[in-house]
Amino acid sequence: MPVDIVVGGQAGDEGKGKICAWLAAKGNYAYSVRVGGPNAGHTIFFKDKIYTLKTMPGGFVNPKAKMVLGAGTYIIPDWLEKEIALTNTASRLIIDPHAVIIEPRHTAAERGDARLMAKIGSVGTGLGAAVRDRVDRKKLMFAKDHPRLKKYVKDVPELLNKALARGERMLLEGTQGMKLSNLHGEYPYVTSRDTTASTFMGEAGLGPKYAGEIYAVFKPYVTRVGPGFVAKEMKDKAKLNKYHTAGREVGSVSGRLRRVGEFEMDVALQTVRINSATRLAVTHIDMLEGADLSRGVKSFTGEAARFMRTLDKVCAAYPRPKVALVSYGPGLFDVLEV
Ligand code: IMP
Ligand code: MG
Repeated sequence: MPVDIVVGGQAGDEGKGKICAWLAAKGNYAYSVRVGGPNAGHTIFFKDKIYTLKTMPGGFVNPKAKMVLGAGTYIIPDWLEKEIALTNTASRLIIDPHAVIIEPRHTAAERGDARLMAKIGSVGTGLGAAVRDRVDRKKLMFAKDHPRLKKYVKDVPELLNKALARGERMLLEGTQGMKLSNLHGEYPYVTSRDTTASTFMGEAGLGPKYAGEIYAVFKPYVTRVGPGFVAKEMKDKAKLNKYHTAGREVGSVSGRLRRVGEFEMDVALQTVRINSATRLAVTHIDMLEGADLSRGVKSFTGEAARFMRTLDKVCAAYPRPKVALVSYGPGLFDVLEV
């Protein structure tokens, strides 16, 4: 089936952006589609440059692919325009007329909400406030109404369905992760949307019939920028420092140092079930001892090999996903295909 989907299996920041960019660079996707808000940063190391994006799909690395923002996208126009320039995508960006513009009042409302900011740890982009206005059916600005963005607007479901009819493939890039789903996650320590594959399809305007491979992305450990549960949270300052420096575990939008905890098997199994994951992608394996693939070694040893064996249990959950990709460094092509 033509729509491959990438979802997060933890608390966001699993490295979905890098996996999406790798898939887009390798695969023949005519479209990279994204939904969700600018609270979700994704970082891509590509051709000696570091791209920290919030809205543009990671698939921009493939110059032949068109970039699509679905109706379930929430846009801060200034931020998006910077990303269009940075990624050189002005001529290949398409925005759904019903993507919502996050206005300064949304951002101010969220930042001024002490409960949301302190108790939930909101990133403060205004996504939640914009979602709330949409649910309340208040007056909103949509992409079709925006003076500088309306030139990118096209009927996305029509466009994508025509592409499907021509047999073209597309990559749907999800945001955040299982633990942060407003529907299935660790409420109230969640974001303002569901963060699972079926919702991403709906937010893009795609019917469920076309879902292809569903990649669930995990790190061998869990990080979280906000409050909420983290299993066996790491408190050792020196160890944490290694994650914050070598592991770059600092919030790309929030700038906060990420909390670090153990791999959570129950959440991984839940991720497989709720997303019907067919493939697993592991990132940051290089944070474990025994993962020195950048030096030409071809297989994992020690801690890294042990972690890969714990994934057997995740692969046994229905629909029995297979480990497909293991990322062992920040570079776009530091990926082992299993
Ligand atoms: P909000 O979605 O900005 O309201 O944030 C709600 C919770 O989700 C907070 O704990 C945030 O830190 C977390 N969160 C939201 N987006 C991301 C993300 O992309 N990566 C990691 N955490 C996120
Ligand atoms: Mg992120």
